[in-house]
Amino acid sequence: MVRATRRNQTALALDPSHDADDLSALRPRPSPGGQSGTAAMTSETKHLHVITWGCQMNVYDSGRMADVLAPLGYAPTELPEGADMVILNTCHIRDRAAEKVFSELGRLRVLKQAREAQGHKMVIAVAGCVAQAEGAEILARAPYVDIVLGPQTYHRLPEMVARASRAAGAVIDTDFPAEQKFDFLPDAAAPQGVTAFLTIQEGCDKFCSFCVVPYTRGAEASRPAADILAEARRMVAQGAREITLLGQNVNAWHGDGARGLGDLVRRLADIDGLIRIRYTTSHPRDMDDDLIAAHAEVPALMPFLHLPVQSGSDRILAAMNRKHTADDYRALIARLRVARPDMALSSDFIVGHPGETERDFESTMQLIRDIGFAQAFSFKYSPRPGTPAAGAGLQVPEEEKDRRIYALQALLREQQTAFNAQCAGLIIPVLVTGPGRHEGQIGGRSPWLQPVHAIGPVSLTGTVVEMKVTAAHTNSLTATLEQERACA
Ligand code: 5AD
Ligand code: SF4
Repeated sequence: MVRATRRNQTALALDPSHDADDLSALRPRPSPGGQSGTAAMTSETKHLHVITWGCQMNVYDSGRMADVLAPLGYAPTELPEGADMVILNTCHIRDRAAEKVFSELGRLRVLKQAREAQGHKMVIAVAGCVAQAEGAEILARAPYVDIVLGPQTYHRLPEMVARASRAAGAVIDTDFPAEQKFDFLPDAAAPQGVTAFLTIQEGCDKFCSFCVVPYTRGAEASRPAADILAEARRMVAQGAREITLLGQNVNAWHGDGARGLGDLVRRLADIDGLIRIRYTTSHPRDMDDDLIAAHAEVPALMPFLHLPVQSGSDRILAAMNRKHTADDYRALIARLRVARPDMALSSDFIVGHPGETERDFESTMQLIRDIGFAQAFSFKYSPRPGTPAAGAGLQVPEEEKDRRIYALQALLREQQTAFNAQCAGLIIPVLVTGPGRHEGQIGGRSPWLQPVHAIGPVSLTGTVVEMKVTAAHTNSLTATLEQERACA
């Protein structure tokens, strides 16, 4: 299995157990793709070790990179020692990302030298957003790196590996090619289990003042519907029962002329055996009427939405270039709740954006009180070089950011605990994802993405089971089996 270790981004995410929506989930997690490795272990087998930082998109990309390398004989390995190739799949969204990459590279350099002393090669590749943004600096500071590749060029990895194995100098490929990388990637090979991730969209055209994504991931690009449907069918044939559609701006997806995500969701819902559909991450401006209608019409579309608002102050929202107001967001949530009354919300918040006053911060707190979130992620603003906010005056002092985030997270934690508590005593449909942490236990997910644990047989994996919630915790629910429900 690819040891796609997910390194910590920040300790400020409220819910470290959340694993689908955000760049800040703190747990190391396995890569969804490439897990079983398609290359058989022979004497020809080369070992590939992948380390992943950041979002679900990166975890997915790590799996795809393992997939494109499998035909070259690369099979995943758990440890960097003895690996023929190590890929660092990096994330640049918040501070100190590059430093973490350089410190990992320092460790790999020692391993690479030890391997060379034994007459073996170790190809080191840096992929992802740090590679995109700081490719030249990586090669200057770590000349033993063989390949630097941006997120748009993964399909060219086999060629780069071949060139790197031959060439003396490093290979750098961080272009934004006109052809979309989706066209070139092979079909994702390895099964991901009951809950699978499927990238349908890449990039962002929104240019929020604080964010590097439009610069590192490039313009919005949508994958064609036919490819998505084919990959979803394959995932379901391999055992997936829940698919989370991924994209930096997933609800900006427009794969087929004028058709948007709502239409795609309806078509996915027709796939036999696919019980649950989710999508993440969305921008409020791209929640169109048809997508809202899909929430009312498609039972498989889960009643949980990660919809970042970032701030509750109109002044700061304007400074952030979000192009919506706090009341626009309130109105949007009201419409979603009409469409799907049991809809639960998650969001991202930034405190201490340049120019944020105490009054602006209080507006954010008020928005949180007004909406009531099932969970959320929150970050102290950190300047990202090259973004407009980084050069703005009126940077908020660090102590002030600390004070604000502390208060904001306390409120969000209270809301999350209250949301979970209201599930106690209810009978809810749980998708069983596999064995639980303890002997005899199974684990699963509620419709609202809460992890659920119960005593039960692992044979229920992949089915939806009615469970009675016996205890609610801050990050999970404990339940007992009621009855097995026929799966759709
Ligand atoms: N500082 C703090 N948080 C940021 N995010 C993105 N860029 C920054 C930054 N410069 C947060 C936003 C985004 C989430 C993925 O990361 O809240 O929605
Ligand atoms: Fe970044 Fe804004 Fe695009 Fe989200 S919408 S990826 S925060 S620029």
